[in-house]
Amino acid sequence: MKGIILAGGNGTRLQPLTFVGSKQLAPVYDKPMIYYPLSMLMLAGVRDILIITRPTELALFQTLFGDGRHLGLCIDYAEQDEPRGIADAFRVGADHIRGEQCALMLGDNLFHGANLPSLLRRTALKMSGCVLFGHEVADPQRFGVAEVDARGRLVSIEEKPSCPRSNLAIPGMYFFDTQVTDITKNLVPSARGELEITDVLRSYLDQGTAELVWLGRGVTWLDTGTHETLLEASTFVREVQRRQGTRLACIEEIAMYMGYITPDDCHTLGAEMSGSPYGQYVMDRARSFSRGMPPTALSEDL
Ligand code: G1P
Repeated sequence: MKGIILAGGNGTRLQPLTFVGSKQLAPVYDKPMIYYPLSMLMLAGVRDILIITRPTELALFQTLFGDGRHLGLCIDYAEQDEPRGIADAFRVGADHIRGEQCALMLGDNLFHGANLPSLLRRTALKMSGCVLFGHEVADPQRFGVAEVDARGRLVSIEEKPSCPRSNLAIPGMYFFDTQVTDITKNLVPSARGELEITDVLRSYLDQGTAELVWLGRGVTWLDTGTHETLLEASTFVREVQRRQGTRLACIEEIAMYMGYITPDDCHTLGAEMSGSPYGQYVMDRARSFSRGMPPTALSEDL
């Protein structure tokens, strides 16, 4: 399965921060925002990843991740010259996907919660049609919204409805089978001029192959598109990390846990940042892993 992280867009709601930098590189507490969606793909077992950015920022992402080899990944980059909507990711990324299945992560979505890693792995393994997730929120009109019938079956999908039919928002994490590039070819822009991801999802729904997976209360989903939500996300990450003594979305630790790199490799990556608590943590985790820390302590908590 291929992966795409969409890290383009003008970040209008975060101006002036985004005049000279990418939203997805803004810090969420101790690491760049894009670490969070990247960690989701890594945990799903997706290692061949395309990052789509604004042309002016592509070099910054390259500086951050290079070709991804140090993390046991293969990371490539593509430019989106202007924001044309989320589904444009499948047009820009058509050469990357090349008829394979694909997971799409929005670069500003952050997830944390029990059993998320195994849920991601299961989802990536049994793919046919598409999988979207549903998460209850207080303000569904800000998101794509899923409606379910009395038996919990998905019956409709709407983009930012003014009168939402449910409070089940659709987060920016999606899994698609091989049809997705063809479906996107036939898409037309919506009234707001964007190629909507919800239109892609609706094509699958019409075929009867869209699966909705509820993210229960045990999962926290945060989007970080405004100054308020960016601060909330940073505070959330700081609190969880401070209470647990662990780090969320620590991509070096995840690469080691997933077997993409060795504990020695992980330690070396930490040592390169040894002047920061993050680097120290990476070195610590590498040492613990070498001493045989039980994988279950890590597996559902990364
Ligand atoms: C986009 C999608 C929306 C989804 C949301 C998740 O909205 O269009 O369906 O629920 O991401 O973050 P945007 O944040 O680009 O307005």
